[in-house]
Amino acid sequence: MSYAADSSLCLERILASTDLSGLSKKDAATFTKRLKVHFPRLFTNYTYVYGHQYDCYFHLQKLIEILRDGLKSRKPALKKLDNERLKSPLWYRDQQQVGMACYVDLMGPTLNDLHDKIPYFKALGVTYVHLMPLYDAPKGDSDGGYAVSDYRKVNSSLGTMKDLEKLASALQKEGINLVLDFVFNHTSDEHAWAKAALKGDKQFQNYYYLFDDKTIPDQYEETLREIFPQVRRGSFTYNEQIKKWVWTTFNSFQWDLNYSNPEVFNAITSEMLFLANVGSAALRLDALAFIWKELGTNCENQEKAHVLIQAFNCCLQIVAPAVVFKSEAIVHPDEVLKYIDKDECQLSYNPLLMALLWNSLATRKTRLLTQSMKKSFAISDECSWVNYVRCHDDIGWTFDDAVADELGINPFDHRYFLNQFYTGRFEGSFANGVPFAENPSNGDCRVCGSLASLCGLEGALQANDTKGIEEAIKRMLLLYGITFSIGGIPLLYSSDEIGKLNDYSYRFDESKKHDDRWVNRIAVNNEDTALALGQTAPASLAGMASLRIFSGLQKMIGIRKQYAIFGQAQTHILDSDNQHCFVFMRENTKGEKLLVVCNFSEHEQQLPRSLLTTVDCISSVDLLSGDKVSMESTPIVLAPFQQLWLLAD
Ligand code: GLC
Ligand code: GLC
Repeated sequence: MSYAADSSLCLERILASTDLSGLSKKDAATFTKRLKVHFPRLFTNYTYVYGHQYDCYFHLQKLIEILRDGLKSRKPALKKLDNERLKSPLWYRDQQQVGMACYVDLMGPTLNDLHDKIPYFKALGVTYVHLMPLYDAPKGDSDGGYAVSDYRKVNSSLGTMKDLEKLASALQKEGINLVLDFVFNHTSDEHAWAKAALKGDKQFQNYYYLFDDKTIPDQYEETLREIFPQVRRGSFTYNEQIKKWVWTTFNSFQWDLNYSNPEVFNAITSEMLFLANVGSAALRLDALAFIWKELGTNCENQEKAHVLIQAFNCCLQIVAPAVVFKSEAIVHPDEVLKYIDKDECQLSYNPLLMALLWNSLATRKTRLLTQSMKKSFAISDECSWVNYVRCHDDIGWTFDDAVADELGINPFDHRYFLNQFYTGRFEGSFANGVPFAENPSNGDCRVCGSLASLCGLEGALQANDTKGIEEAIKRMLLLYGITFSIGGIPLLYSSDEIGKLNDYSYRFDESKKHDDRWVNRIAVNNEDTALALGQTAPASLAGMASLRIFSGLQKMIGIRKQYAIFGQAQTHILDSDNQHCFVFMRENTKGEKLLVVCNFSEHEQQLPRSLLTTVDCISSVDLLSGDKVSMESTPIVLAPFQQLWLLAD
């Protein structure tokens, strides 16, 4: 018998014994209609992972009840949005979309305060706001909120669930999408499930990976990567209370969920639907690469992780089709691509572009960027990159060693160089960064720091170096300019837009000082926003720089939004005849073409005008300066760090 036949019979039986009387007539019809479309996939995925377990169908039936309840509690306004989004599913490929990620306490400091920041978001052109974890979490260190104790409760210092829903609808009214984190690889050790496990409840002990002794953990350990070696060696933590080893990929208080247990899948689906129903347009799948464990592997990017994410996606299609998934896979570029699919994650962070933009700034060379983007930039037309420069985490040098090798770059040495460069240990470096998660066993290291400090503003301001300040600002605008133009949703990281410097105060905070990522988690206060909005005048060199960065970004965003070519279009990465320049072309079905040319060096660079023939035009206009560029024989001249957005006339 084929799977398709199996699944329709299965659905028939499940529906025959599922009480839909609590749903309105319309909802019941919607529910059965959507099940008809999406259940076959859900069935295939679910039975692929859990089919060998005697109680698989029992749990599958329960899952359908969870979906029914999810639809029942979805608000009318969100159901309306579901229908709108189903009609224009590719909203996230629109040139209007510009994102910003921020911590509520660093921008609010409460959810209610964020209402006052809406004009600021709008002034910058932001249409998507990612509020980093705002859920109930342990006091003190909670990995910046990524250790969730209750998905249904807002951290009391930020407000209440009601406040969050109010904010979600206020944002929606202003055309701003809310993005929330779905932290589903682990919970905190204070989550009700973990607490029950700690009390010895077997059912909840099966929600996690607990081991009586170190035998099995040691077997896994042989092939695992250490994520936070500065906190604790290995991936397991001994718990005195239950006298067991707990799988803790990240911090010791973050317990990995056991997805080989279908009950966990169901329970977390219920939490996911709750977050969808708060009014989020997208859920950021935190640490999704780690959700499936397989002995003898590194337990990242396993096939069943993909199958499970596809199953979650089916659940969303049935209950809340307006909501899309954003993949946070900070892994090898080939693995990043595997999460990107209409049926898996419609959106994905682009860690490769991010890391290689920084690489090109340090080396002033673009060949690794060009070669890597040629190999890895193209994704499905139904999906979109989320292109970013900085975020609340570290920068990991996740480029493909094979591409580096082809170019004669030794990957190990090169990563060493990048770490030295960005932590300011390399002679002549402009950057002020901090090393992160140095691993004494294998020499691995990552880098933290704010956009401005890594681009040289911190050092230049300290030295009162006007030329240095100038260059730092140009570097920042160059990196962001590429995220605005290359294709995908650009995602600003709050505090970047006003060029805030590293915040070293975490070093005096017991709950933060061991985690250097806090250096780039920086408050944006009312003075900052007033300055950016032109309500106060800058009183210092730093203030003047902030204002220039903000206006520079604002201008580029404004231009992005005016032209369809920044929305749905194909990107072609081109070879540039100049090793300091990065060149790509965009082309859409209307025949519009855009050539983007970027200079990564602090010196003037030239490019042959023949490049313009790639866009097949006699003349073009640089959207950034408004200058006309015609096909004469003289080369195109780029000022230090200049970029041109050449739209064919
Ligand atoms: C993601 C988050 C990071 C967190 C980790 C564990 O990578 O971005 O901040 O530490 O997941 O949840
Ligand atoms: C993920 C990423 C890693 C990052 C960590 C938290 O594990 O792979 O690069 O540092 O999350 O920051």
